[in-house]
Amino acid sequence: MSTPPREQRKRVTLTKLAEMRALGEPIVMITAYDHPSALIAEQAGVDVVLVGDSAANNVLGYPDTVPVSIEEMLMLTRAVRRGLKTPLLVGDLPFGSYEASDAQAIETAHRFVKEAGCDGVKLEGGGASAERARAIVRAGVPVMGHIGLTPQTATMLGGYRAQGRTSARARQVLDDALALQEAGCFAIVFEAIPAEVTDVIMQHMEIPVIGIGAGSSTDGQVLVLHDLLGIHDGFQPKFVKRYADVKKEMVRGVHEYAEDVRTRRFPKAEHTYGIAPEELDRLRAQLPPHRTVV
Ligand code: KIV
Repeated sequence: MSTPPREQRKRVTLTKLAEMRALGEPIVMITAYDHPSALIAEQAGVDVVLVGDSAANNVLGYPDTVPVSIEEMLMLTRAVRRGLKTPLLVGDLPFGSYEASDAQAIETAHRFVKEAGCDGVKLEGGGASAERARAIVRAGVPVMGHIGLTPQTATMLGGYRAQGRTSARARQVLDDALALQEAGCFAIVFEAIPAEVTDVIMQHMEIPVIGIGAGSSTDGQVLVLHDLLGIHDGFQPKFVKRYADVKKEMVRGVHEYAEDVRTRRFPKAEHTYGIAPEELDRLRAQLPPHRTVV
């Protein structure tokens, strides 16, 4: 189904996502970390925008998602909020901002809603995270879960690798999904899970599941904007499909600008402001005669 014109699109709600799932209409989710990207997501008609903690490595220059702070995430999320009207906005709770206690998780989630205008928050993992999710939902904030490959705890998972590749590990992923669903999450991200395992788990799911490297049977898909547009040319996981080569075009443009400056081809008359000749004459008349330094 193609995207309806912008003026006809209504704000995406949790109810709308549940309806889309029921009708078998795929849910489109992307990440955005700044205002221009939010405007792109809005104009392209996506359903859900996640201000992912992948901002840590994609725009803040950290090696992974672990170091990013609540304040950094809030600043990026506020910029995205200012660019969105239609998509549901989900803020990603950074590592260390929700694990310690229900009280910590609720306090952080409330900050994302009150200070950055999020419609919901996302947290990673099952187990104790499912209990944190339950507490946040009870405190009035919609929660999106995230299981499979959870980058915040990648070290514990043996690195950035697909999860659920043995029957025991697949069972663990299923149990995490069910725990998050039971805790009241409105949706769950499945990351880097074999498609066949996703197919099995989907038979037990009653809430929207958004996949990233989890096959095609999920209710929707999410990709990181920087991956899908080729804004960087670093490591690219197997599950990324690249739809543009934006970095190449940006480097080309800046290189051409640099060449133009160095060869004085830029700026030209059309890039330059003017002054009325009589004003210029008046200015010259006020100045002392030009001195030649010898
Ligand atoms: O931070 C992020 O970009 C994410 C997506 C991969 C779902 O969590």
